[in-house]
Amino acid sequence: RILILDFGSQVTQLIARRLREAGVYCEIWPFDADPARIAAFRARGFILSGGPASVSEENSPRAPQLVFESHVPVLGICYGQMTMCAQLGGDVSSAHIREFGRAFVDITDDCTLFDGAWTRGGREQVWMSHGDHISAPPPGFRTVATSDGAPFAVIADDTRRFYGLMFHPEVMHTPHGAQLLANFVHNVCGLSNAWTMANFRDVARTKIRAQVSSGRVICGLSGGVDSSVAAALIHEAIGDQLICIFVDHGLLRAGEADDVIRIFRDRFNITLIHRDASDLFFAALEGISDPEQKRKIIGGLFIDVFEQEATKLGGADFLAQGTLYPDVIESVSVSGGPSAVIKSHHNVGGLPARMRMQLVEPLRELFKDEVRALGRELGLPETMVGRHPFPGPGLAIRIPGAVDREKVKILQQADAIYLEEIRAAGLYDAIWQAFVALLPVRSVGVMGDGRTYDYACALRAVTSTDGMTADIYPFDMAFLSRVAGRIVGEVRGINRVTYDITSKPPGTIEWE
Ligand code: XMP
Repeated sequence: RILILDFGSQVTQLIARRLREAGVYCEIWPFDADPARIAAFRARGFILSGGPASVSEENSPRAPQLVFESHVPVLGICYGQMTMCAQLGGDVSSAHIREFGRAFVDITDDCTLFDGAWTRGGREQVWMSHGDHISAPPPGFRTVATSDGAPFAVIADDTRRFYGLMFHPEVMHTPHGAQLLANFVHNVCGLSNAWTMANFRDVARTKIRAQVSSGRVICGLSGGVDSSVAAALIHEAIGDQLICIFVDHGLLRAGEADDVIRIFRDRFNITLIHRDASDLFFAALEGISDPEQKRKIIGGLFIDVFEQEATKLGGADFLAQGTLYPDVIESVSVSGGPSAVIKSHHNVGGLPARMRMQLVEPLRELFKDEVRALGRELGLPETMVGRHPFPGPGLAIRIPGAVDREKVKILQQADAIYLEEIRAAGLYDAIWQAFVALLPVRSVGVMGDGRTYDYACALRAVTSTDGMTADIYPFDMAFLSRVAGRIVGEVRGINRVTYDITSKPPGTIEWE
């Protein structure tokens, strides 16, 4: 396994994802993690990430010296290359030409990192982002690629197996970058591609059994990917010792509650308690139009109902959660500064702190794409594992203003038509998230010979890689007018359809 030491780059997680895709297990730790812990991890190779600091600044971060004394390969990326260079006796200075974004490197020599990707004499596109550059590499290194702004764009010390890249191989804008990283872990570190979801499944099953023994585990199912995969995996390990509780707030998409019951109870034979608590939720939401207040009410009530059901069962020893690796990576604050809270993402299904149970979190080591792959491996249907993200507070935050049963029903129908058309057009997987928002606006229309005075709705579809930024999905007009025609024709209560063309930023993906 590989240890990635993080110096605070925005894209460090992508390094880990590329290595996992190459079949190699890795973890991301802060650069200043305890050296004793680092030693105990017994990494077969280290990667030093990029970061916002400059090596010439006083007190700028350094890699623990043991990284260079462990007799295992080291790959420094961007800032990681700079600090490696400085720590091993090279010279780093502030660059005259700062390079940001797309750049080209000339391959001047052979290097094992380039196998199957780059050849000597070639010119290759990469993604740069640096203000420092190397003016003299440390003793023992040779230069194997150069660029206008970085004469030592790639340096290599084949004896010690230390390599440095001035650019980011982990991002998509470095076309052969994934191959370079795969070469590092396979050819240089000598690791095989044994990290697969089939292997993970076997190991996880054994671990779950060992942790739980004969105890009872409860799990809150929401219909989302993470809790579904966690439940299926735990059930495979301990069978009826797992009891799932599905708190149905009545704010899911059309047919989704039935799907959850059908898949888990009927197909997987999992003990499932379905509590239809929609009356409670609608009563609590009556007349509430503030988005944050809606989130609070739904999050709080969810926990209350979940707890009631758990108490009825006579309690449990363990609580299962679909926590993922991005939630547990310790973050590095080199650039610092608190970020503003735009929305409090109360995740329905979150841990009720006062329920004193041990946690079973079998997905803690996985990224989202790995969770999906594991779900497929476990036989969960594609409609569940490939599903667009869905917010915990459900359709309540897709209905600006006060929410009631009737509005939710109207929205469910419009949303179902929209998604059906997106699927039929083969566009579902090209879109990060698509949904309809029901607007608190009535407008005049005409149908047949009659006047209508009904709601307007907005179609939303965005592309994104992490939900942090998003672009609108550019539907063609024929598609949009087909959807609009069907919604107005088939859904009583909507007589006008609009198309939201706001990117994020400045908009957000959801309307609330
Ligand atoms: P925004 O609207 O902030 O959404 O651009 C980014 C991603 O987060 C989801 N989202 C939520 N998820 N509880 C959740 O579990 C929430 O309160 C919530 N609000 C937004 C949203 O669907 C998108 O995927």
